[in-house]
Amino acid sequence: MRQLKSAEEMPGSYGLPILGETLEVFRDLELYIWRRFQQHGSVFKTSVMGRKRAYLIGPDANRLVLVEQAEHMSSRIGWHFLESTFGNNILLQDGEEHRLTRRLMYPAFHGKAITTYFDTIQNIVQDFLKDWGQGTISLNSSFRQLTLMVATRLFLGSQNKSEVEQTSQWFTQLLDGSMAIFKWNVPFTLYGRGQNARGKLVAFLREAIAQRIEQGNLEQSKDVLGLLLAAVDEDGNKLSEAQIINEALLLLFAGHETTASLLTWVIFELGNHPEWRERLREEQLAVVGNNPLSLSHLKQLPQLTNVLKEAERLYPPVYAYNRGVLKDIEYAGYRIPAGWFVTISPMLTHRLPELYTDPDRFDPDRFAPPREENKKHPLALLGFGYGSHSCLGMEFAQMEMKIVLSTMLRHYDWTVKPDYSAIAPVRQPSKAKDTLQAYIKPLGSNLNI
Ligand code: HEM
Repeated sequence: MRQLKSAEEMPGSYGLPILGETLEVFRDLELYIWRRFQQHGSVFKTSVMGRKRAYLIGPDANRLVLVEQAEHMSSRIGWHFLESTFGNNILLQDGEEHRLTRRLMYPAFHGKAITTYFDTIQNIVQDFLKDWGQGTISLNSSFRQLTLMVATRLFLGSQNKSEVEQTSQWFTQLLDGSMAIFKWNVPFTLYGRGQNARGKLVAFLREAIAQRIEQGNLEQSKDVLGLLLAAVDEDGNKLSEAQIINEALLLLFAGHETTASLLTWVIFELGNHPEWRERLREEQLAVVGNNPLSLSHLKQLPQLTNVLKEAERLYPPVYAYNRGVLKDIEYAGYRIPAGWFVTISPMLTHRLPELYTDPDRFDPDRFAPPREENKKHPLALLGFGYGSHSCLGMEFAQMEMKIVLSTMLRHYDWTVKPDYSAIAPVRQPSKAKDTLQAYIKPLGSNLNI
């Protein structure tokens, strides 16, 4: 019989008594896991916030956690820190409760629903980019502003500019509050202000929901809020008002910073690769020409799709995430007991040389036939997750990013700073992204926004 080692025997250290390695992990998770991976290889242990944790790196580990042993893993325990800010929501649910919520939310992010959001997103993007003119922009904060506008409009149902601005501001306060170490819900603390903003968002959503119900015709809605209200499954289940409110806030959280982050990195990489800007412009010209951009054009842009995949590979916004182990599992000769956390990392998986040739290089052609390097393993590219909790908004995000990038490519050119040397040696893209700037200039006569 095969002898399994105890998880306690994994390489790695539990760090300081009580604290474990909490400080290192919180200070800079990206750098922490990169260093430990270099030191110990693809399986190592630590202790964070008093809980023992196994880091399992690579496509087989991803498959184990997200597919093979998914029923023995808890997303609720993995994402528990979101509960005080967002309440119970799809990401925090396990088992049957999760399946039911996902079934009800799925139609708002697939098929016909996606097509109904195109015009709204395109209008917001054009309006936003029109004002850029010529000059330096801070990439991540600009894209955060843009994606938050799209999200408040489509997920919260904000109707006009002032509602979009107001709800965006409340949501930013809520997010700031969620970062507070001490969760004291009293006025004038960061957390207290966040909770106050949450109260205002909830009141706003209650009012919006009441109006929608009064107006009727929910199935004809052109935004996510309306379609969540209309959702009913074959057994007659519906989402309650409280659930819709929690889900709408979670969608804002899950959807806006992630999308902004990936957009930032695409613009950064394209800024460093004029030959790719040229190739993508030629693709735009061949597919869209001088016509207004339409949804069907977005499906005919394989080179832009590969550039997006390459940014997802190099800079996955959700670069590592956890699950709580509910029942003992085995991996790489170790038994990992119930009660531990496991962490997997898209970021490290995506940089493995056994999957990707010259993995630190920006090379979107790696996804084109005949190379198709991501097909070496079904879990080789997982920037949008995989399995039962895989990203519900992937199609939405890809449409939004393609609209932004197509519009930018057709109407602007840009250079970026700092250059690679400032970020490449340090494995902390999520920190570096706030320093990235682009100097943009309109392309001239064809500026037709
Ligand atoms: C580039 C943008 C995005 C990236 C990289 C991304 C990434 C991810 C990842 C990795 C997960 C899986 C988490 C896990 O398994 O624990 C996830 C889940 C999720 N994402 Fe996204 N996401 C993006 C945009 C969006 C957008 C725009 C929305 C909303 C429209 C969205 C909604 C969700 C939801 C609701 C879940 C939870 C699904 C579930 O638990 O069943 N995401 N996302």
